[in-house]
Amino acid sequence: MIDSTPLINIPAATVLHRISPDHLAIPEDLPEAAKTVLTQLHRWDTDTMEHCLRVGKMCEDFGRWLNLDQDELALLRLAAYVHDAGKLRVGTDILTKDGRLTDYEYDTVKKHAEWGEVILRRAGFDQNVLAVVRGHHERWDGHGYPDGLSATDIPRAARIIALVDTLDAMSAKRSYHRRRTNFLALAEIRRCSGTQFDPELATTFIDFVCQQLTSDRRVA
Ligand SMILES: [Fe+2]
Repeated sequence: MIDSTPLINIPAATVLHRISPDHLAIPEDLPEAAKTVLTQLHRWDTDTMEHCLRVGKMCEDFGRWLNLDQDELALLRLAAYVHDAGKLRVGTDILTKDGRLTDYEYDTVKKHAEWGEVILRRAGFDQNVLAVVRGHHERWDGHGYPDGLSATDIPRAARIIALVDTLDAMSAKRSYHRRRTNFLALAEIRRCSGTQFDPELATTFIDFVCQQLTSDRRVA
């Protein structure tokens, strides 16, 4: 039966491949080191762990849509599943704070990109994964963190994670902002194309999300 709710009015969370309980499990085929990180995140802050699972799954789907070669797809998938490992060093009082973060708290959260690199290096991840995790908050225009890299100096997998990460963040219901609809989430990605996001990838990502929405629609 066709759902008559306009697609643009559906909360963006539904874009994230209508996450089923199956998708929220740690994939069996991830390396043990990644499973360990996700298990630690689960104990530390379940929301962060579930965010990593959604971003990992959607990056994998989007990477296939992009026709990435096997090596790059494997890198993207692995890095996406553990991209927020650095939040293991951010206090849960900050991660679960019900309200806007202070400047100090926000600066602490921003450290997670570098801390993730440190944690994952100790856990034995290779240099390519470390570079992607460190770079997932860099911006196309060079105004991101921690290194202010720009454009193609940012690993492509990190540029992809940045898009999926942002869509998931906009889908989250936080006390200081309401969950955005698909339309607003995609409009925001469009608005930040060329500044925050790689413009070519952003355009393709919007196409991908629209395709996911319409294919979901057919089976609704
Ligand atoms: Fe992050």
